[in-house]
Amino acid sequence: MTDAGRVLIVEDESGLREGLASAVERLGCSSLAVPGLGEARRLLRDQSVDCILLDIRLKDGDGLDLLAELRAGPLRDVPVIMATAYGDSERTIRAMRDGAFDYVTKPFDLPALLVTVQRALEQRRMSREQRRAERPLAEGGGLVGSSAAMLVTWKLIGRAAASAAPVLVTGETGVGKELVARAIHDYSARAREPFVAVNLAALPAGLIESELFGHEKGAFTGASARRAGRFELAAGGTLLLDEIGDLEPSLQTKLLRVLHDGKFERVGGHETLDFRARVVAATHKPVHPGEPGSQLREDLYYRLAVIEIQVPPLRARRSDIPQLVAHALRAVPARAVSEAAMELLSAYHWPGNVRELMHVVERAGVLASGEIIDVPDLPEAVRNHAVAPDTDTERLSLREAVSRLERRMITDALQQTNGNRSEAARRLGIARAQLYAKLQEFGIE
Ligand SMILES: Nc1ncnc2c1ncn2[C@@H]1O[C@H](COP(=O)(O)OP(=O)(O)OP(=O)(O)O)[C@@H](O)[C@H]1O
Ligand SMILES: [Mg+2]
Repeated sequence: MTDAGRVLIVEDESGLREGLASAVERLGCSSLAVPGLGEARRLLRDQSVDCILLDIRLKDGDGLDLLAELRAGPLRDVPVIMATAYGDSERTIRAMRDGAFDYVTKPFDLPALLVTVQRALEQRRMSREQRRAERPLAEGGGLVGSSAAMLVTWKLIGRAAASAAPVLVTGETGVGKELVARAIHDYSARAREPFVAVNLAALPAGLIESELFGHEKGAFTGASARRAGRFELAAGGTLLLDEIGDLEPSLQTKLLRVLHDGKFERVGGHETLDFRARVVAATHKPVHPGEPGSQLREDLYYRLAVIEIQVPPLRARRSDIPQLVAHALRAVPARAVSEAAMELLSAYHWPGNVRELMHVVERAGVLASGEIIDVPDLPEAVRNHAVAPDTDTERLSLREAVSRLERRMITDALQQTNGNRSEAARRLGIARAQLYAKLQEFGIE
């Protein structure tokens, strides 16, 4: 199960097919790979895919025939990248004329091919997005929960949606940063304009610049036509710079300049374009000035974090867990979770946060023998490590056990940091304000 999309690879040479499949998976996509047109047709009858990489010369026929069928049928929105032998101009022209998303020549330039795949997936996402814009908004932007911590997050989303100022969304992996970014867009005045996301950690450093800025024809080897970058595609809408904490220093400098001047140029071009996107940046890495391990320039941090939304880890909002579980159950055959299983789910510390909880419930919901998910259906980690081993929880209520554990973790963190509350909060993965509230609740000095 991945968020990035599913890519079908049709390629008759087995080594190449497997190589492509694993390269695509490294992008965070899932892949399906088949050797010929027959298998591809069968598979497309009952599986959905987001992008197809299609070789033209296959043992059982011509890839262009499949392209034509796809364009005429219900899958016409699925982008198809055709692979042609170098120099096969006639087929290349026909492929593009017949609606291929792009073509790539063999032997493959893998990094460039992967960027093309990502661009195809992005287009797919945008056309989906547009269809979604015609439907009513999911309440709360699809964010489930009603804890005090989520309430704070919603307020900030509302405030961010009302302005065009840059937003920085921080929080551990899987807490819902991308959903927050989308909610900001969906509730903003730009909701009908494009939402363009770019994952800065997934792109090879050498390609980020032309991805963001676009390029002119001939800007570098392989730049066979002018291409609009994400800055341009997001004009009027929202640009999500995801994993901003991974952006290398020289590109941070360039980004800072664009944000400062409100202008940019395509790679290899002289025309100055206006930067008209609203920026939301997200990261799970440390980015605060002075925070250990932060690699984000301080001036860039301040430019991006005009509004900052710290999405709390799931363990800091356990009261949301039952609602999130109910949400995850909609996707599986099982109907409910037993009380004992729910207690374990509520007590676990969820290092992978909401994403991990969703996966655990979905898996258990598929594996459960009946309609109820019970303790044995849960993964061992959740069954065994829900509560720290040396806490005596035998005769305690769940709430009491959890609050003892919280108190102990907080005291430990304060001891380890010599009473430095900011650092302790960081280690605990909670906001400073939450730590203060806990200190008050527990009467810790
Ligand atoms: N409050 C929520 N309600 C419903 N689903 C949620 C919520 N928060 C997160 N999810 C789901 O959890 C998964 C992870 O969310 P998302 O991709 O937004 O996390 P992230 O913070 O961007 O993680 P990463 O740092 O790993 O990129 C998604 O499937 C998302 O739909
Ligand atoms: Mg994310």
